[in-house]
Amino acid sequence: MPKILVTGGAGYIGSHTCHVLAENGYDVVVVDNLSRGYQHNVPRERLRVLSLSETSELARIMVEERVDAVVHFAAYIAVGESAAEPELYFSNNVGGSLSLFAAMHEAGVRKLVFSSTAAVYGTPESVPIPESAPYAPVSVYGESKVMVEKILAWLDELRGLRSVCLRYFNACGAAWQAGLGEEHEPETHLIPLLIRAIETGKPITLFGNDYPTPDGTCIRDYIHVMDLARAHVTALEYLLAGGTSDRFNCGTGKGHSVLEVLRAVEEISGRKVPYVWGARRAGDPAELVANSSRLQRKLGWAPQNAELTGIVTSAWKYTTRRSD
Ligand code: UFG
Repeated sequence: MPKILVTGGAGYIGSHTCHVLAENGYDVVVVDNLSRGYQHNVPRERLRVLSLSETSELARIMVEERVDAVVHFAAYIAVGESAAEPELYFSNNVGGSLSLFAAMHEAGVRKLVFSSTAAVYGTPESVPIPESAPYAPVSVYGESKVMVEKILAWLDELRGLRSVCLRYFNACGAAWQAGLGEEHEPETHLIPLLIRAIETGKPITLFGNDYPTPDGTCIRDYIHVMDLARAHVTALEYLLAGGTSDRFNCGTGKGHSVLEVLRAVEEISGRKVPYVWGARRAGDPAELVANSSRLQRKLGWAPQNAELTGIVTSAWKYTTRRSD
């Protein structure tokens, strides 16, 4: 079986993807500096603790481990933090990627799946959003992902590096049976924060109830992290079979409002979520829903856990089991 190097494999989506890769018989080696990821997400023998800036060491690992392809997650992901620390975000997300791509060139590895985001579209003109929508990021985080996508387009032409960029919508849920789930510090995402509000009794602030949506709260496309993980394996198979570079949206095509998600958490937990209303959060578009038909048509991927109740149940089980 091919050997896959996963950067950021100790993080949320990365660890779930490593789990699915291993389930499918792939040999996996993880590179993570553990600045945002967790050692407990990776079997010790699989982990190389290393920063992406270490180009020669990365190349050495790729040659020594006979790596066939790379799945690249390692990046900072917080939109708010990216506005406060733009240099850090460009340096880590773009600089780190450049170092990785240089190492791949040195080691002769020419296949890559890249963790991109719906944030490359900013505030879209219409939803559901197709891949042909223009780049229009409204955050440093989104811009850093656009930059890497553009670099990859050049490296395809100049270096023969074949890549698939997967633009995720709202990743959520957990493979709680495997001990994997969402863990960010600080946490900024809706579902873990709703669960935390129940656990701590401290109200969550809901950002805005005056959006032009049916209940006034923002609508997002919540996709189960295991469906995302499978999308990476599908993209890898496509590249390993000789596929050309491409980019795909990765979502369910169905939107849920903040209040709908809150009600789902209340229903699954049997508890009330304490909340207060706050102002709109800067850069939050009213509605983000994916048109993922290209990924379905071209690579044959389809979400298997698209129901919100299933997604929330898995997140709830992961969190409550952990705090048992
Ligand atoms: N929300 C609240 N209160 C909170 C946190 C979130 O009301 O405390 C709301 C947000 O305003 C938004 C929805 O819940 O309407 C979802 O917010 P998240 O922060 O969970 O997710 P985002 O849609 O902001 O961001 C996600 C990814 C980003 C990515 C973006 C792309 O986390 O990395 O999708 O659209 F950039």
